[in-house]
Amino acid sequence: MHILAIETSCDETGVALVAARAHAREVSVTVLAEALLSQALLHAEYGGVYPTLAKREHAKNLVPLTTEALANAKLLTQTTFPEISKETVQEIKELLKREPELFVQLSMFLAQTARPDIDAIAVTRGPGLEPALWVGVNFARALSRAWDIPVVPINHLEGHVAAALAQPHDNTTYTITPPPLPALILLISGGHTELVLMRKWLVYEKVGATRDDAVGEAFDKSARLLGLPYPGGPEISKLAQAARDEALPQPYSLPRPMLDADNCDFSFSGLKTAVRNLLHDIGEPTEVQKKQVARELEDAITDVLVAKTRRTIDEHGARTLIVGGGVSANTHIIHTLRQLVGEYADMQLFVSKPALATDNGLMIALAAALRGIPDAPVHTLVAKGNLPLY
Ligand code: KG4
Ligand code: ZN
Repeated sequence: MHILAIETSCDETGVALVAARAHAREVSVTVLAEALLSQALLHAEYGGVYPTLAKREHAKNLVPLTTEALANAKLLTQTTFPEISKETVQEIKELLKREPELFVQLSMFLAQTARPDIDAIAVTRGPGLEPALWVGVNFARALSRAWDIPVVPINHLEGHVAAALAQPHDNTTYTITPPPLPALILLISGGHTELVLMRKWLVYEKVGATRDDAVGEAFDKSARLLGLPYPGGPEISKLAQAARDEALPQPYSLPRPMLDADNCDFSFSGLKTAVRNLLHDIGEPTEVQKKQVARELEDAITDVLVAKTRRTIDEHGARTLIVGGGVSANTHIIHTLRQLVGEYADMQLFVSKPALATDNGLMIALAAALRGIPDAPVHTLVAKGNLPLY
């Protein structure tokens, strides 16, 4: 079963081509090709993701990335006799009426390419930036129409869960088997900070969430205050690690918001304000002071994430911890969570390698392999910016 997966929920255009198999309770996914284009540098001057720009870039990049992935997977065959009818082209034009540039690229591609050996198209339906999501959804629907194959709508957050659960066997094959349940999922990204309980396989219950900013936002906004480029998470992490490696003193103290509150919720907006106040007191920070602030910020965030995760594990008797989302690329947070998991007998931690933790097409393919392919083509598919996981 070959799946073409598309991710356009934020500022990464991700495409992946995989061969998926299911046997008993295990799914196995072999990566045939991956193509990913990050818009981070384009959004850097806005200090965050600018939705109209994200939408335009996805529309510009989807056909080239899909072509590249098909070629690398050896599934691209040029033809001078395309099988696509004039009526289908007309329907696709209607589907892509808000993305005229994408329609022009796609119709040229379809006119030169034989129908590839693909069984389904998986696409992120939400949550994310709605204009950006629509580009991927409409592109998937257009391909589904052109090739007469089903679309698998994917929840982006389940994509992060699937990426965390996927066990690599070599450079190209991953397997996913249901872990011991109940499993606790800590989702930490630029848009989400949630504790989710999975008592039954792929059934989600909300346990806690941020009341304001997501943890990735706390990293990104604080990084901006420190004059670091977007996305700020990796930049803060580098400086924090330098502070530890150089054993710099720790003169600053930032709050640990809601650390002792009697619930599993988070709040990160105060942390950004505290960083602003601290920098106001410091004046123009030196390179050493930047490292010290970055370390204190990463420590504060880690303390809160670990305390709330511990509390939720204890409250619900979780047997597995799954950590997903872009912030799970943070070495210090994962190292500390690994220590926490080590305190519980037989508990296993699932987290992906950093490249699979931030947004990409493969995570959407992995989630589609878990969900399975519907028999019939999907005729209506709507992008939903606030699509919940539960
Ligand atoms: O999952 P993701 O790629 O996009 C969303 O779905 O939001 O997460 C992006 C977030 C950004 O806020 C970025 O700063 C953060 O993940 N991030 C990190 C690291 N790598 C990415 N935060 C802390 N440390 C990192 N190493
Ligand atoms: Zn994400």
